[in-house]
Amino acid sequence: MWAFNLFIVLHLDILLLLPLNFDEYCGVITVVSDKKAKKKILKLINKEHKPVFDVHRDRFKRVNVIIMALNSEGIPVQKSPHIPVLYREVIEAFEACNEGIIIDCTLGYGGHTSMLLDANNNCRLIGIDQDPTAIEFSTQRLVSYGDRVQIRQGRFSAVAQSLLSEYGDQVCGVLADIGVSSLQLDVRERGFSYESDTLDMRMNPDASLCASEVVNEYSHSDLEFILREYGEVTNAKKVAETIVQKRPFESAKQLSDAIFHLMPKGKKIHPSTLVMQAIRIEVNDELGELTRLLDVIEKGPQKHLRVAIITFHSLEDRIVKQRFSTWSKNCICPDDAMRCTCGNNNAIGKVITKKPLSAQEDELRSNSRSRSAKMRIFEINR
Ligand SMILES: C[S@@+](CC[C@H](N)C(=O)[O-])C[C@H]1O[C@@H](n2cnc3c(N)ncnc32)[C@H](O)[C@@H]1O
Repeated sequence: MWAFNLFIVLHLDILLLLPLNFDEYCGVITVVSDKKAKKKILKLINKEHKPVFDVHRDRFKRVNVIIMALNSEGIPVQKSPHIPVLYREVIEAFEACNEGIIIDCTLGYGGHTSMLLDANNNCRLIGIDQDPTAIEFSTQRLVSYGDRVQIRQGRFSAVAQSLLSEYGDQVCGVLADIGVSSLQLDVRERGFSYESDTLDMRMNPDASLCASEVVNEYSHSDLEFILREYGEVTNAKKVAETIVQKRPFESAKQLSDAIFHLMPKGKKIHPSTLVMQAIRIEVNDELGELTRLLDVIEKGPQKHLRVAIITFHSLEDRIVKQRFSTWSKNCICPDDAMRCTCGNNNAIGKVITKKPLSAQEDELRSNSRSRSAKMRIFEINR
């Protein structure tokens, strides 16, 4: 995977003077004005990198060159430790938000945020994250967008509630890309990975509950519940029993080693992944946060609002699916009611995605994390 992204628009002569190492890039897009320029650039670039050319003359009739790092599938590589999932679908979801404010509840490393700002030239964006590392990274990454971007630190359920009431009908979209970022998973000290030397897993390092407390102090039945419900661990009872017998654990690695033999050995994911996922969801109250976010959106003052939620877990997807379905129903009487007493006009909008959107082939190949991503979209219109 390519770690850098270079996007330059400059005069061909300047390009020729720059000491650029094109071997660092797996793909290059250039926009050149004539065949001679194209030839010169082809000499510079190893053809294996499959450069994409487009003949173009700018309005000053100058030769302009755009170079952009692409991954092997021809997808732009973001200068970010996290590759945003369903990037095309997210941009499409908010196409109509060019004039208003989009709230990105899960700013992370600013991937979706920067794409949305680029795609909608006049929109403003407010990004929320509870992880100070993500806030710090994105603050720097997004500095060039100036006052089009605001960044808020905190839990999205609480911050989104105050933003929705503060900005009212200026808000035209809410995006949430629920879950952990690649960087959170990759930095061992954060304790999210089964290889970690710690047992932490807090997205917000100041939060009171951490993984060590869940693993070392929860009762057998509570552990069994979270393993079954949040991790869909099939032998949750046995795994919980083993954890209780062998604890205390100091690291995720120790925990993973202790339960490894109990877990089914699949090819696609490490056997301990589902246990880690269950503990992480508990530590960060991820389902509670999602439910509260949907409550806040439902009660918000917006007459028109596009809501797009990306989930990576069937439980989260079910929460979103059920809530969107309720929002689209006129009659909210209980199923067994003899006649309608609710007024039959309770719908606050319509479901845009009857089935959730998932990653297309090319994205699946270039970003394995997109495998389980599902996005549902709802249009509030009340
Ligand atoms: C999957 S990443 C988002 C990545 C982002 N869309 C991008 O393109 O870079 C999820 C982010 O949301 C944050 N997050 C998750 N739950 C949160 C919550 N309840 N409140 C605030 N931030 C949350 C995490 O800290 C993480 O940085």
